Amino acid sequence: MARRMLIAGNWKMNGLRQSLGIIEEIRAFAIVRSDLDILIAPPATLIPAAVKIAGLVKIGGQDCHSKRSGAHTGDISAEMLKDAGATYVILGHSERRAGHNEKSAMVRAKATAAQSAGLMPVICIGESESERRAGKAELVIGRQLEESLPHDTDYVIAYEPIWAIGTGLTASLDDIAAMHIFIRDRLPAGKDVKILYGGSVKPENAAAILAIEDVDGALVGGASLKADSFSAIIDAAPIRFAASK
Ligand code: 13P
Repeated sequence: MARRMLIAGNWKMNGLRQSLGIIEEIRAFAIVRSDLDILIAPPATLIPAAVKIAGLVKIGGQDCHSKRSGAHTGDISAEMLKDAGATYVILGHSERRAGHNEKSAMVRAKATAAQSAGLMPVICIGESESERRAGKAELVIGRQLEESLPHDTDYVIAYEPIWAIGTGLTASLDDIAAMHIFIRDRLPAGKDVKILYGGSVKPENAAAILAIEDVDGALVGGASLKADSFSAIIDAAPIRFAASK
């Protein structure tokens, strides 16, 4: 069975109420491209308002706590995201691994919490530039997978080489293809799991990246902040016929 494509926008720490207009515009694309899933992860403050206007566009969080509730000032639980109307949550993004010292074991605990709350985790992995230059990209990715994946195999993986995020650089098509095969080989439910590529995906490179066999979509940062660039990326996705998942 072909895997359904997923084009996801990670707004990071961007977006005020006026940004909801982007979701309204993307909603029309979700109707035209009902062969794939579109996800937008706005800041948590906008999730309830985003859900109201999202139509077929799925709305997700950008992080959650591993506990259901308690004395964790400033944190948001998976159950709260679900309650706000989110259906996905991005976890283990390199900006959280670096900026919040999140280790893979923590990412796994968060992913387990997300699944228990009924959210689909999008688990991010990626090597640094020095790790790639040292020929250690596969070693690093292999270890991140081993340590970050929850027991339940219902998740999405996002491969985001750190040096490609927000830099305008993308991994070569050959490197993306090779890494996605490497990742899939290491997943217990390999062929059923969506593996997204992220890192400077733009309208100009999206068609070539999304045409790679083991690339099942994209996790888009900067280019998801404008309806015209995000919709052009959605447009660039090849049509794969598959039952909804
Ligand atoms: P850019 O598309 O801005 O490089 O960001 C990628 C990313 O980090 C998505 O999670």
